[in-house]
Amino acid sequence: MSFVEYSEFIQEGDVVIIFLGRESMMPIKVQSGAQTQTRYGVIRHSSDLIGQKFGSKITCSKGGWVYVLHPTPELWTVNLPHRTQILYTTDIANITLMLDLKPGSVVCESGTGSGSLSHAILRTIAPTGHLHTVEFHAQRAEKAIQEFKEHKVSHLVTVRNQDVCKDGFGITHVADAVFLDIPSPWEAITHAKRALKHKGGRLCSFSPCIEQVQRTCEALLEHGFEEICTLEVLLRVHEVRTVTLPLPDFGPEDGSSDLGLEDASNSTNSSVNCKTATPPREIAGHTGYLSFATKPRN
Ligand SMILES: C[S@@+](CC[C@H](N)C(=O)[O-])C[C@H]1O[C@@H](n2cnc3c(N)ncnc32)[C@H](O)[C@@H]1O
Repeated sequence: MSFVEYSEFIQEGDVVIIFLGRESMMPIKVQSGAQTQTRYGVIRHSSDLIGQKFGSKITCSKGGWVYVLHPTPELWTVNLPHRTQILYTTDIANITLMLDLKPGSVVCESGTGSGSLSHAILRTIAPTGHLHTVEFHAQRAEKAIQEFKEHKVSHLVTVRNQDVCKDGFGITHVADAVFLDIPSPWEAITHAKRALKHKGGRLCSFSPCIEQVQRTCEALLEHGFEEICTLEVLLRVHEVRTVTLPLPDFGPEDGSSDLGLEDASNSTNSSVNCKTATPPREIAGHTGYLSFATKPRN
């Protein structure tokens, strides 16, 4: 198993996502002889997991069942151990697109934090790209190195335990893209410019506060960056539900099939059941602003 390549069968040492329900999942490391307790009973790694196909439905000791899923960056984001605030898929999708990441891209990132974004970047740039990620908190850097090894992606990533604002990214004029998620990104713009390839290259900075955005954009302008733009990505998940509506009386003719009604057999004389999608009354909270820029091409 690797986070950048799909395997069919579960092996010792793999990370598996135990899916108990949409809102209830847990990552486990498969070890022969080990057991994992769930609300549906025990999962015995040797007999229930090793050799099974990823995606299988397995029965726990109390008779309940769970799915055993292959890990992906999206599943990791909602299951990873939090060491910091993390980026979620809504922002990650935009970052990946707007930084023009693809297989073979060389990318710089700081800070590594809990590695949520790092895993998504690694899947996108594999099999020939490289991620240089900088984290000044020693234990977080160490934990990230360990996770990348366990997830079989360490050949694609270099973790540096240093202050990006003082010491930069450790590479010069090779990166296709730079991503910043640190409290004072404006202090890292000189280093970002040096890490980016001579001409072109994209930069993105994530900040929760507009004052941080202002200072970062000023620094980007001072350093000659172009196409500077800031956006906020808000997700609106529409809820699909069945509602009962009173049936209008159009006279003696039966017009229910012309009205797009779900199923005439669900209808009574006076009401009808149909599916409707409603937008959320409240939009999920602000995460942060994404500021993008391009290094001049000439
Ligand atoms: C919000 S977290 C990053 C989360 C990450 N984007 C993710 O998705 O998991 C910010 C990280 O940046 C690190 N950091 C802050 N300032 C830094 C600096 N100057 N140099 C290197 N790392 C820094 C912090 O230690 C923290 O781990």
